[in-house]
Amino acid sequence: MTDEAYAPILEGPGASDYERYLRTDELLSLQKNPEEMADRDELLFQVVHQSSELWLKLGAFELEEATAATAEGRITDAVRCLRRTNLALAYVTDQLEMLDHMAPWEYHQVRLALGHGSGFDSPGWNRMREEMTALGRAFDDAVQARGLTLVELYRSGRDHDDLYQLAEQLAELDGRVAVWRYRHLVTVHRAIGGGAVGTQGTPVEMLERLIRHRAFPRLWHVRDELTRLADEAAGG
Ligand code: HEM
Repeated sequence: MTDEAYAPILEGPGASDYERYLRTDELLSLQKNPEEMADRDELLFQVVHQSSELWLKLGAFELEEATAATAEGRITDAVRCLRRTNLALAYVTDQLEMLDHMAPWEYHQVRLALGHGSGFDSPGWNRMREEMTALGRAFDDAVQARGLTLVELYRSGRDHDDLYQLAEQLAELDGRVAVWRYRHLVTVHRAIGGGAVGTQGTPVEMLERLIRHRAFPRLWHVRDELTRLADEAAGG
């Protein structure tokens, strides 16, 4: 084969189809040049945040499909989507570790460049939360449509395995959000301390309270109920 046989065939800027398809020109221009940086750690900071936004975008996209699938009774499809969301969240959690490689004093130079930029305005995170609410509703409807209570679903053995798997993936998602929040809090403590106030005036302490928040509280309460029933059955 000649080189010509493998010449780019896609439209768009870039010397190869790899660059054209992935739009690497645009992607790699989304970070500040060294001349624009307040501190060289801005690249690390931007890469972690931008890649988090991409994974969260994928996570929310999969959640949207999971909601549609649940509403149409395609529960196994919903579970497949939700596994991807959960893995995306694990990646977003893991990459927080990279921020621990920033010295706190250097981070203050980066912080000066952020304006009022705050994680509360993260489009990916906010979309994830919206989609989680929608999926929670679709899940409740699906349980009701089978004429079950949550306790019955959790005691139904293999009879409603698809719905049980969906419930457990939802609990996993809720747990992963809490783990992300805890890991993020540790990062925040390392960077600016536990007594600081964020770029939008939120005390760091408030992040601690959010760790206990659950998007699907009933999926946690059901475990209390099962423990109570098991104790009762054991004559406790
Ligand atoms: C050194 C790194 C980081 C610091 C110092 C930091 C600091 C903070 C602070 C102080 C808040 C409270 C809101 C405010 O006033 O700004 C916050 C919230 C938040 N941050 Fe970060 N953050 C860091 C990294 C990240 C990363 C990598 C992400 C990834 C998307 C992120 C996403 C968020 C989100 C989603 C919230 C809202 C909290 C929630 O809903 O639980 N942060 N962050």
